[in-house]
Amino acid sequence: MRILHLLVLLCITLKGYSQNRITLLSDSAGAVISRNIYGHFAEHLGHCIYNGFYVGDTNREIPNTQGVRNDVIAALKNLQIPNLRWPGGCFADTYHWKDGIGPKGERPSMVNKWWGGVTEDNSFGTHDFLNMCELLGAAPYLSGNVGSGTVQELSDWVQYVNFDGKSPMSELRRKNGRDKPWGVKFWGIGNEAWGCGGNMRPEYYADEFRKYTTFMGEGVFKIASGASSADYKWTETLLKQIPLDMVDGIALHHYSVIDWDKKSSATRFTEQEYFLTMQQAIRMEELIGKHTAIMDKYDSAKKVALVVDEWGGWYDVETGTNPGFLFQQNTMRDAMIAGTTLNIFNNHADRVRMANLAQTVNVLQAVILTRGEKILLTPTYHVMEMYKVHQDATLIPLRAAVNNYIVGNQKLPAVSTSASRDSNGFVHISMVNIDIHATQELDIDLKGLQVHFISGRILVSKKIQDCNTFDSPEHVKPVAFNQVQEKGGTLHVSLPPGSVVVLKLHGGRP
Ligand code: AHR
Repeated sequence: MRILHLLVLLCITLKGYSQNRITLLSDSAGAVISRNIYGHFAEHLGHCIYNGFYVGDTNREIPNTQGVRNDVIAALKNLQIPNLRWPGGCFADTYHWKDGIGPKGERPSMVNKWWGGVTEDNSFGTHDFLNMCELLGAAPYLSGNVGSGTVQELSDWVQYVNFDGKSPMSELRRKNGRDKPWGVKFWGIGNEAWGCGGNMRPEYYADEFRKYTTFMGEGVFKIASGASSADYKWTETLLKQIPLDMVDGIALHHYSVIDWDKKSSATRFTEQEYFLTMQQAIRMEELIGKHTAIMDKYDSAKKVALVVDEWGGWYDVETGTNPGFLFQQNTMRDAMIAGTTLNIFNNHADRVRMANLAQTVNVLQAVILTRGEKILLTPTYHVMEMYKVHQDATLIPLRAAVNNYIVGNQKLPAVSTSASRDSNGFVHISMVNIDIHATQELDIDLKGLQVHFISGRILVSKKIQDCNTFDSPEHVKPVAFNQVQEKGGTLHVSLPPGSVVVLKLHGGRP
């Protein structure tokens, strides 16, 4: 009897059978998952803008619209990209927007001091970016220059892009060929003010924020430069010193980096390095929880959004590329980061109402890589595409008891999940198994939700180091998933090692 018991235990341990239990609290109404959680970030950094998005207005080799690659536009439209942050990052606090308007041949140039010391000719400026956002159907999110700019400069920018009547700035806009304002809602007041944005103390920055926003006018969504990872003092100081009616969002930046002085290769990494990267990605849960707790103290009505406007994996640059350009490959490890992080954001949709993956094209955890006329969609792209079903859907809160993924004497939760109901009544459940050895068996209690038909897609590959290359751009891509059964109100799902799965439940309430 005792031996039988041990055998059963062994089977359960080896297979992970039924150890993961998820309960969908399908009767409780969660927050709406803002589509803006699925936002992106494009900085004047390396080949994100130049030779990434933008190949020049006179380029005949690469099909483009006003200089922006058509294939990039199509790929991002397919993601339903909700918003795009520009022009930085650190670059934003060196950027003088008036240098980027008017005839391109007459625009002054500058040195991009943060990113490779290259010459920036300002050929991609305000009109180029905002027109591109129109092509993408994305809301623009402009980062203002607080570090080296002026209050006048930022208030002029708001007037230039948003004022419909007659004013010095709107007349200048018209002279430059644009009659109607673009109506830019999202504005960042500086970037990383604690670092490249001016090395300020939070008390000083809070005053700067109050001063800059005073002259920006009403009707715009004002986002304060927020904390780096666990700098809770930064968040608390801003909330103490900035009245709630002056601020709409507070930012948070957190990268999944093992060690700033010793990062890992983007493709040739060990399991230990993978584990440490995932530890940093999963840390987002704790960071959001603690920053939110501080925000709740000062803003119990949750008026102010937590805006995670920089997140993603950060590794060594690819061999032979400019270290200042932050060009890195993107593997199934990045798919694990993306799926896990987006589940965390979804589950905190009441406070996290905007986020921006760093960065869209050719920089850090990019969704798109380009080389000449070639383009590839990364594993991260495919996760964002699979997860787009959550945009503007209503969160279904859940309870989860899951197995651990153990490496050496350290462990992480092996499975992450989130669920939502869209406006057509379809329920989507997204799941990630970060364990690269064991299939994880999940029992999902639907709590009375009726299901007539289930469809699903999976992103998985043989190795966690697998990626798409310009020679093999479709090596990693989603395929149909059918390892799911429904029995007596419970879904049973087999999640292969290192996989991301999104299920669509067709059905309704009892
Ligand atoms: O995304 C790259 C850089 O990381 C950004 O410019 C900066 O804000 C952050 O430190």
